[in-house]
Amino acid sequence: MEGYITEHPILQFKRGRRVKFYFEDKELEGYEGLPIAAALHAAGIRILRYSEKYNRPRGFFCAVGKCSSCLMEVDGRANVMVCMEPLKEGMRVRRQKGKGRLDG
Ligand code: FES
Repeated sequence: MEGYITEHPILQFKRGRRVKFYFEDKELEGYEGLPIAAALHAAGIRILRYSEKYNRPRGFFCAVGKCSSCLMEVDGRANVMVCMEPLKEGMRVRRQKGKGRLDG
């Protein structure tokens, strides 16, 4: 549970089982059902995508699906908000550059 919030005064975190997923083809583990971004953060990954115009790194920002800072490619789908998308076993997650690719 290293890297995860385990106690909070008003929120509860329901964790599923530990599952394997892939970030840039590297095998990682996380808790099923928690946001993909939480698993990436726990693994020390802070850059989630690169901005379209200046190719600047973007990371976890609002964490509630409002800012688009965390858009990534997940299982070939571009523009997935990983702060809101639950982690599932075997997911393939990639950093997105700009608007992302439609073909994955
Ligand atoms: S971090 Fe803001 S939408 Fe995901």
